[in-house]
Amino acid sequence: MKVRDSGMPDEEMWEKFFDPEKTLKTLGVGNKTGDVAEFGCGYGTFTIPAAKMIKGKIFAIDIEPEMISITEKKKKGAGLDNIIPVLRDFISEGSGLKDNSVDYVMLFNILHLENPVDLLLEAKRILKIGGKIGIIHWNYDQTTPRGPAMGIRPKPQDCLNWALEAGFVEPTKYDLKPYHYGIVLSKKEN
Ligand SMILES: C[S@@+](CC[C@H](N)C(=O)[O-])C[C@H]1O[C@@H](n2cnc3c(N)ncnc32)[C@H](O)[C@@H]1O
Repeated sequence: MKVRDSGMPDEEMWEKFFDPEKTLKTLGVGNKTGDVAEFGCGYGTFTIPAAKMIKGKIFAIDIEPEMISITEKKKKGAGLDNIIPVLRDFISEGSGLKDNSVDYVMLFNILHLENPVDLLLEAKRILKIGGKIGIIHWNYDQTTPRGPAMGIRPKPQDCLNWALEAGFVEPTKYDLKPYHYGIVLSKKEN
């Protein structure tokens, strides 16, 4: 089942909204980061820069064959061999990754789904103890140029509460100007 309101504008427009390297760095992704899972990779906007920064591999999951094929093409174009594109519905099938197997989970522009705590629990399941999740989402502000409908758009406090409910700890919040906010939390126990 596709996340509600998760259709994408064209790639050129989408990529203007982000400074992926800066965002990833701010959210603690870097050359010490091991394996990463990304839920909903879209155009690979964050996948490609993340793959260049980390020492591990990145599982880039998306339900749309078009998004997987675009990400695959960009991977080849950039000569990266540490991206594993995964065509999969993470709502009905989960991520398919093993328990305690990755170091970082990217939940970028995705937590407006119907059951956010379930997704956060799946993220927690696959994270190693000491691993981190990075959440980003559109500001709760109707003037942003894109973003889910305001009726289903989470506020930063919603994302934080859901992540704490799922058992994550030690939150740090970030203002990712101009249109987004970020939250990083840790997994300290299974
Ligand atoms: C709003 S886009 C965000 C893309 C990317 N995270 C970014 O920030 O650039 C959401 C992505 O999630 C994918 N998606 C939606 N529902 C999904 C599901 N159930 N399983 C896997 N991917 C899904 C969509 O196809 C889309 O590419």
